[in-house]
Amino acid sequence: MKMHIGADYYPEHWPRERWATDAKLMKEAGFNVTRVAEFAWSKLEPVEGTFDFSWLEDAIKLLGEHGVQVLLCTPTPTQPKWLYDNYPETVAQDEQGHMHHFGNRQNNCFTSPKYRELSRKITTAMAEHFKGNPNVIGWQLDNELSGPFCFCMACEKEFKAFLKEQYKSINDLNAAWGTNFWSHTYASFDELHLPRNKHSSPSIYLEWRRFHSRQIISFATEQAEIIRKINPKHFITHNFMGLYDGLNYFKLGEVLDFISEDYYYNFGASNNDNRFDAYLFGAQRLDFIRGIKHKPFWIMENSAGSLGWETYGRNLRPGEIRRMTIQNMARGAVGQVWFRWRTSRYGTEQYWHGILDHSGIPGRRYNEAKDLTPLMQKIFAKIDGSKIRTEVAILTDFEDRWAFEQQPNAEGFSYTKALEPYYRALYKNGVSVDFVKPGDCLEKYKIVLAPHKYILTKEYADAFTQFVKNGGTLLTTCRTGVKDASNAVHEMPLPGFLREAAGIRVEEYEAIGNYSVNYKGKTYKVNTLADWVIPETAEVLAKYKEPGVDFAAITSHSHGKGKLWYVGSIPEDKLAERIVLDMVAETNVQTYDLPENVELVIHEKDNASFYFLLNHGDEAQEIKMCALNGTDIVTDKAVNGKITIPANDVAVVQI
Ligand code: GLA
Ligand code: ZN
Repeated sequence: MKMHIGADYYPEHWPRERWATDAKLMKEAGFNVTRVAEFAWSKLEPVEGTFDFSWLEDAIKLLGEHGVQVLLCTPTPTQPKWLYDNYPETVAQDEQGHMHHFGNRQNNCFTSPKYRELSRKITTAMAEHFKGNPNVIGWQLDNELSGPFCFCMACEKEFKAFLKEQYKSINDLNAAWGTNFWSHTYASFDELHLPRNKHSSPSIYLEWRRFHSRQIISFATEQAEIIRKINPKHFITHNFMGLYDGLNYFKLGEVLDFISEDYYYNFGASNNDNRFDAYLFGAQRLDFIRGIKHKPFWIMENSAGSLGWETYGRNLRPGEIRRMTIQNMARGAVGQVWFRWRTSRYGTEQYWHGILDHSGIPGRRYNEAKDLTPLMQKIFAKIDGSKIRTEVAILTDFEDRWAFEQQPNAEGFSYTKALEPYYRALYKNGVSVDFVKPGDCLEKYKIVLAPHKYILTKEYADAFTQFVKNGGTLLTTCRTGVKDASNAVHEMPLPGFLREAAGIRVEEYEAIGNYSVNYKGKTYKVNTLADWVIPETAEVLAKYKEPGVDFAAITSHSHGKGKLWYVGSIPEDKLAERIVLDMVAETNVQTYDLPENVELVIHEKDNASFYFLLNHGDEAQEIKMCALNGTDIVTDKAVNGKITIPANDVAVVQI
């Protein structure tokens, strides 16, 4: 099988006479797939109930004649004006009950029965119309499913029903939420309401985030069911936004055949400063995306130039399209689609640059993509079906992130930012990680990092403890085990159910700026949050150097056959790296002494391994590793224990 490569295409933005040129240029570039119709509802259903698929069918036919297969999108992220005007009940409302204005996109309510009905109608009509079309291979549901948070009456009604489903009895809800607080007791489910106030009870807030996520996912599920019934052979995917947390991506993933990711690594000008960091965060989001289904994924949108709506950011340097794309493949992408084919002359995305510029004349970026596709196919043919070598996992959960969004605990605390020092340490040392979610098997890994597992049920604490007892090394941190599933605070010292496994207790804690700690004889900074850790049976690895705070900051504790590390604060990068290196040394996880700006990912397939080496820097780098004995697929040159990778370039060494 060939790798799917292409660009997102909007034939409706261009005169028909141009389509053949586009298809020809795509073919010449080695593109074999495109995604269409994402925002084309008003062209596909210009008047309610009257569908016009002819133009799209013509475009698809032409693309097919040039060997470009098509992924169709349900066009529901942008409702047509007739829909907005005739059915105000389909429009999302803000906290004040004001309707979102027409003129942007994604301003529908996902609960609205009318919106659901119209979504089912257009989905059914499209699925029927393109049934059997030999050039259509799959679907993207909607686009970047996300907000808006809707506060309309239909949502409120559904929210009440959702709560009734969860809690069954109003007394149980009152008890779980502790509604005697501020006289918030409810006499019936009918009295419930959406949390329109940011100071609402944490319990109602968390349930509402679960509800919002469920509504979006049930909307997507309706579309998926229609498409699967009519076109059982077509795959169904959706374009995710990395670590975005507006909805539970783990649950959305269950609806799909595979995940797709929109990875705009150079979004905004800030990335001018540190390109390596941009690739590091890219790697993190790609690993996260791969972890949702533990399966290869597609890149459905990828930077093709400088990006932005009102303003644009950094442009891609020569060679960058190639390096970014090989990074995607290194981290599990088996489809590569750039956004967008040609830069739009109209609308909000005028400065979101595509493979072609406004002029439509092939330029540098087109040529770079064109030069790259044969290499991508060459690599893909070798690694298709491979697995990434990972011994370490990072556990994240949406529920913790939602709870932290309402109550960050300390000013400036961000869950994703707090992950960074650990991810960076692993990345810099060539240790690939899998992101895992609650319910995934932990025993496959030597080390699991589960920072800030804020909501911790007994059941999940048991899974952690079992992992440790079975010989695993677990790292957890401050703000772990604080809350129960209803976002109420547990009635025990921290870290709650993990106290015994961690061999510590925390009675007091505080928000901080920076403190110093002494870790194994060296001084480092920690920030934002500080647990005053009291060792019970744990070993103290670091103490605060702060007058009046005579407590441990970092501990480790042998428990069963494994070990639990507890970090009571947020470490600066250097400290996170020390901790991680100490953990990997104890567990015999392989690390690599990589030169600056070099990224490593290792794939395994049958008896072969493939070392992806990416040099994100502006200087050539030599990498020495006795394992590197084979051939670089990029240059076809033999490699014997060392390789020099030119600036901004890549190697894929097959061993
Ligand atoms: C999102 C969408 C794309 C495109 C870009 C740029 O990423 O998924 O279709 O509209 O925004 O605006
Ligand atoms: Zn609503």
